[in-house]
Amino acid sequence: MSEPKVPMDFEIPDNHVIVIFGATGDLARRKIIPGLFHLATAGLLPERYRIIGSSRAASAMTNDEFRSYAKEAVKKFGDLRAEGEHWLEFEHALSFASAEPGHSGDLETAVKLAETEIGGDVRRLFHLAIPPEAVPGMIVMLGQSGLNENARVICEKPFGVDLESARKLNDTILASFEEMQVFRIDHFLGKESIDNILALRFANRFFEPLWNRDHIRFIQIDVPEMLSIEGRGAFYEETGAFRDMVVSHLFQVLGFLAMEQPVSLDAGPLRDEVHKVFLTLQPIDPSCVVRGQYDGYLQEKGVAKNSQTETFIALRAEVENTRWKGVPFFLRSGKCLAQSRQVITIGFEEPVMRLFPMDESSPGWRGNKLVIDFADPGSIHAQFLAKEPGPLMHLDSAEMTFHYKDSFESAHRLEAYEHLILEAMLGNHSLFTRSDGINRLWEVAAPVLNSPPPVERYAKGSWGPASASRLVEPIGWCLK
Ligand code: BG6
Repeated sequence: MSEPKVPMDFEIPDNHVIVIFGATGDLARRKIIPGLFHLATAGLLPERYRIIGSSRAASAMTNDEFRSYAKEAVKKFGDLRAEGEHWLEFEHALSFASAEPGHSGDLETAVKLAETEIGGDVRRLFHLAIPPEAVPGMIVMLGQSGLNENARVICEKPFGVDLESARKLNDTILASFEEMQVFRIDHFLGKESIDNILALRFANRFFEPLWNRDHIRFIQIDVPEMLSIEGRGAFYEETGAFRDMVVSHLFQVLGFLAMEQPVSLDAGPLRDEVHKVFLTLQPIDPSCVVRGQYDGYLQEKGVAKNSQTETFIALRAEVENTRWKGVPFFLRSGKCLAQSRQVITIGFEEPVMRLFPMDESSPGWRGNKLVIDFADPGSIHAQFLAKEPGPLMHLDSAEMTFHYKDSFESAHRLEAYEHLILEAMLGNHSLFTRSDGINRLWEVAAPVLNSPPPVERYAKGSWGPASASRLVEPIGWCLK
């Protein structure tokens, strides 16, 4: 990544103390710490800030140990070098304090010291990068200790494991924080290419007139992953691919694809329109779901020997409103699959009259396709038919392509977590999920959670259970 730059009309957040709970965990190491360093280097962090890493006492570190740990994290997972003036300045802002329910003393002292060093009005931002079951205890601790004052809190997904637990978690949070202080994060909403769906649809005239059931035959949101559960056995056993990827991420992407134009991009109108999609999203019919488990999953650390947890999920969803009735949304994700991709395919109807002879033997969808690849840095491909050069009127598929990496200055690019942490510091909820939306998604998910179809085994490196192709017949999965 080249030297980052501050966009000219950018508003710098107020001075902050940022506390990362779960600072010794995977998310903090891979995303949050390197992300904060990138923000700092880009000049997007507040003028004065401190970052406190926090964990349970059992895995506590000294300040110096935390600084070295952060340096290793940036070296391993960041795009920038952990050296020079920028690094020294960032490193100086880091400290560590342990905290756990009933024991907030060290953290209170560290926060107060950081606030004194910064001086003046200082906001607090708590990022709860901890397992779902640890969240309520930490929220109560923040409330009881008074650390919730002048604070905002970022809560990780999954938000609960079903409707009841999500409601309970929400009640716990709202007993210590006002709704305006709460930022429920779904990092897919921080991806440039997902935000660009709004620009593509509502800033252009090309696509929006066709963006409905009259012209669109199907939509696929497909996120296969080659990686395994990567040592996250205990987390994954509680979660599974359906909760981890579909209820959390892919339904949110569906919300952006299917929403009506909001009256503005402010959090209220934007999230209202996404919510309306969720209200019309039909509870998923378990007969339209395929669950799979990769060979060898049962031998992973932390996994029950007879586990029925799915590592693969494919399903058909329906949005029952005037724009979308009858258009299937096919969603798929899984671990240990043949490719790592993040792709939305919008399949358009064929022209009403067929003027050109077609090769009926060629497999797959012949209508136009708009393919949004939202894996960073992202691209968009419009696939259409063109005349093959030569004396005959033969058509073949052709493509118009936009690549983010070739089209804009990459210096302004923010990784999803960076973007969202910045938005939380600015107090902007537009790209965060809302509790009524989350509750509705748990209602949509309930039939599958209550009557899950059996898990089918699949080979590592494959496309999952063969029966997943049954869901999309006769179109087929566009990624294969
Ligand atoms: C996480 C899931 O939320 O998203 C992981 O827990 C998944 O299982 C990851 O691999 C994908 O995120 P990214 O950043 O690769 O798009």
